[in-house]
Amino acid sequence: MSLITGGSMSVEIVPFRRSIRRDGFRCGKPDLDEWIERYAGQSERNDTTRTFLALTDDDELVGYYATKAYELDLDDAASVYGVGRRRYPVPAMLIARLAVHEDVQGQGIGSFLLVDALQRLIEVSRSIGFEVVVVDAIDRDASVFYRRSGFTAFEDDELHLFLTTKQLKLTFETA
Ligand SMILES: CC(C)(COP(=O)(O)OP(=O)(O)OC[C@H]1O[C@@H](n2cnc3c(N)ncnc32)[C@H](O)[C@@H]1OP(=O)(O)O)[C@@H](O)C(=O)NCCC(=O)NCCS
Repeated sequence: MSLITGGSMSVEIVPFRRSIRRDGFRCGKPDLDEWIERYAGQSERNDTTRTFLALTDDDELVGYYATKAYELDLDDAASVYGVGRRRYPVPAMLIARLAVHEDVQGQGIGSFLLVDALQRLIEVSRSIGFEVVVVDAIDRDASVFYRRSGFTAFEDDELHLFLTTKQLKLTFETA
């Protein structure tokens, strides 16, 4: 599926490819730029994360996200289910990073990436059990971006947010 942005650009999301040029990517957060340029390939080869790239028709990188398996510790689990309700770690998935090139922010690409990630996780949930999707927001603005899609912050950390798999399916499962 592709997105036609407000600027009439066609964008498609594809699995990570080493051949795509990543060194000019700038999203306004140097950590996220450095990660896609220097570490995404290695992380992909090691099976640590899976990265998906938002590309234009000309294979220009305009955004990306990365996902990995995760586990809630007991404090975070208490924040989701209530104190003392869970005695073992809770299986989860993490959207570790998500970024859009600064030249094309505000054109819907960030939402397109997030919905793609969440729908892909719904597919994963058919074969692997996990109860929660977690995102790590890089700052307060990013945390607002995720809250708009239904994520809730864990207690005591507004940059660490979750969505239960039940909520995920209710909100993002397509017919
Ligand atoms: C946050 C980010 C991914 C959003 O991507 P984007 O393509 O600009 O966002 P979209 O155009 O899809 O906007 C979606 C909605 O979120 C809102 N939004 C976007 N960025 C926002 C921000 N920083 N704070 C609050 N709301 C934001 C938009 O206003 C828009 O609302 P609307 O649908 O009512 O118009 C992008 O700005 C970015 O890469 N920022 C730097 C890196 C970053 O913060 N990553 C976040 C995860 S670590």
